[in-house]
Amino acid sequence: MHCRSPTLPVLIAGAFSLACTAEPRSGLEPPAFDPNDPFVDTVAVVASIPGSPIPGLSRDQRQLFQEGMGVFAQPFTPATGLGPLFNANACGECHEDPVPGGPGDEVEVHATAFHAGSCQFLETHGGPVVQQDATPELQALGILREPIPEGATDTGLRRSPPVFGLGLLDAVSDRTIIALSRIRHQDGVHGRPAILPSGRVGRFGRKANTASLTEFNAGAFFAEMGVTNRLHPVEGTIAGQPLPPGVDLLTPEPEIDDAAFRAADLFVRFLAPVRPERQTDQTRQGRWLFREINCTSCHIPVLVTGFSRTEALRFKRIRAYSDLLLHDMGEAEADICDGVATPSEFRTQPLMGIRFQEGYMHDGAAETIGDAIQRHGGEAATIRDRFFNLIPSDQAALVAFVLTL
Ligand code: HEC
Ligand code: HEC
Repeated sequence: MHCRSPTLPVLIAGAFSLACTAEPRSGLEPPAFDPNDPFVDTVAVVASIPGSPIPGLSRDQRQLFQEGMGVFAQPFTPATGLGPLFNANACGECHEDPVPGGPGDEVEVHATAFHAGSCQFLETHGGPVVQQDATPELQALGILREPIPEGATDTGLRRSPPVFGLGLLDAVSDRTIIALSRIRHQDGVHGRPAILPSGRVGRFGRKANTASLTEFNAGAFFAEMGVTNRLHPVEGTIAGQPLPPGVDLLTPEPEIDDAAFRAADLFVRFLAPVRPERQTDQTRQGRWLFREINCTSCHIPVLVTGFSRTEALRFKRIRAYSDLLLHDMGEAEADICDGVATPSEFRTQPLMGIRFQEGYMHDGAAETIGDAIQRHGGEAATIRDRFFNLIPSDQAALVAFVLTL
């Protein structure tokens, strides 16, 4: 009755016939995913204890992971580079529950300008992340937060997601993501890869505006904490106005040295996806329904990584529950444009680690999984309706399954 993913040979053939402008990460490509075998528990990379590193790291890599956890969790102060504008004083202040790298309840404000199909980040006016806090030095001058940048056409709220398993998503090849966009789905589903001006495929952030994990992490130090670094060596402005003199004198730029940045970056890269909870009869039923009504057309259960210099990340399966593509979620969900995503497009949110969250969807405002499904419009509307046509015990089973992830 419903569409089925194409057989593996079709997908592999598709993957090799692509005219892909992005630089492939390797000539060797594993199958993009295995539609026949998506739920086998033993083959995907996971860790049982939240906050653990992926298996197979060298002793040096595990050492860097530990050091990096310290940098991630450590509060910065004005003396160590915080601010002068910031949202929170540590990565682990927002990505915190139940361990550093988990989700958090902080909700931040982003603003961009969307004109005639093109998106502007308004960087010279302080965008796209609008900092909600300021150091005492800046507060003493009456500046408590950053105003919405001039010229913004829209604002969007973003709740802090978990970052478990993202090193594996970084290692999924651009070609795999592009191949996933070529699958013909029924039900009106047609995702598109976020091909950035650089030619690479964006995959991080709610709207896939960033291609690599290192770039995202460097952007987070800069935009969330005001900590300048190798990739963002110059302190930001206050909505485009230069900083008042004397408010940022304590630490020379870049405020985080390369060794500490690299450790924090590797901590996020090596943070393992958390093993889903043990399945019960009810959640097994829900898992089957999740597939049967085609939630899996976007929330693809398993992706396979491509080549990586790190052996522990190379050619591995990851139970991400995402195709990393942008989908139109309907006008009711639209907020800001971001990168190549239009206001109503969002990246399929990976569901791994969702059981640690307390609010769902980009703004965290959906209080239950049912509320989150209710907000699936646009391309997802048919499949959403199919969920609400299930009998209540089937709906409950599907939700119970999602909450094991
Ligand atoms: C004030 C809260 C806050 C702080 C501090 C913060 N983050 Fe985040 N983080 C977020 C939010 C909100 C998002 C989602 C942003 C988006 O989707 O555009 C996010 C997204 C991410 C992502 C991408 C997740 C994905 O699914 O694509 C990574 C990686 C990340 N943060 C790493 C870090 C690192 C490293 C630090 C410290 C340098 C940090 N964050 C500090 C709130 C925060
Ligand atoms: C057309 C693609 C598509 C389909 C089909 C789809 N989803 Fe989603 N889903 C998304 C996107 C995109 C998001 C992210 C929305 C956002 O960021 O606000 C998402 C978000 C979610 C979230 C919230 C995740 C979070 O961390 O906040 C849940 C839960 C979810 N989907 C479950 C489901 C279930 C269950 C089904 C089947 C009934 C389904 N989805 C079908 C694309 C889809």
